[in-house]
Amino acid sequence: MEQERKIPKHIAIILDGNGRWAKKRGLPRNAGHVQGSRTVEKMCKEVYNAGVDYLTVYAFSTENWSRPQSEVDAIMKLLSSYLKDCLKRSKKNNMSVKVLGDISRLPTEMQEQIKELEEVSKDFDGLHFQVALNYGGRDEIIRGMHRAALDRKEKGLSMEDITEEEFSSYLDTKDIPDPDLLIRTSGEQRLSNYLLWQLAYAEFYFTDTLWPDFDKKELEKAIDFYNGRDRRFGGIKES
Ligand code: FPP
Repeated sequence: MEQERKIPKHIAIILDGNGRWAKKRGLPRNAGHVQGSRTVEKMCKEVYNAGVDYLTVYAFSTENWSRPQSEVDAIMKLLSSYLKDCLKRSKKNNMSVKVLGDISRLPTEMQEQIKELEEVSKDFDGLHFQVALNYGGRDEIIRGMHRAALDRKEKGLSMEDITEEEFSSYLDTKDIPDPDLLIRTSGEQRLSNYLLWQLAYAEFYFTDTLWPDFDKKELEKAIDFYNGRDRRFGGIKES
């Protein structure tokens, strides 16, 4: 009997290859980021149509600040305009949006935008879309640890109650299920400090396709790959 196709509930993506996409066309790197942001927009629709409930993309890492200032400025400008459009899009598509990462280092205006977007969209029950911005997995774990320690001190809670589940509630991904599938584009096969805690049991899919070229067909390939795997959680195979 043919097995039913499994759709990952949560897909996490490392968007990579914007710069190379632009270079191949003799364009400035920022043109690659612009095209990359269009692909993000398209993928929000495609993954939701495919039956995925959560999508988390790596837009800007804690390490990305070390890029040339002109590129950082251009990316920030692009992300800010993206977030502005996102407010309209989230209302139209019933999409909830959340930013993961330490937003305190972002421009004040952008922090305000993020808070508004999260507040307005928090109860929308379409796609749950997470954007990792000034995000680093180690930084997230340390920030979570500080908050957990502070709570213990201030509320007189005990250290012993810190289980995996309790600790997860101090992470930026509180209430968001762990990703089932990680996709990284452009041929790189590294985790680059992305969702270190949350990706513990995910399947990893790597493709040579550059992010701006990623499309519905590529998404299908990633889901096919996911279906070809036996999902194992410590030894017990899912049927
Ligand atoms: C990846 O390609 C690019 C980034 C991590 C920079 C920011 C991403 C965007 C602006 C895409 C839009 C995201 C959203 C949420 C709208 P790269 O520059 O590392 O490419 P390269 O490895 O080819 O140089």
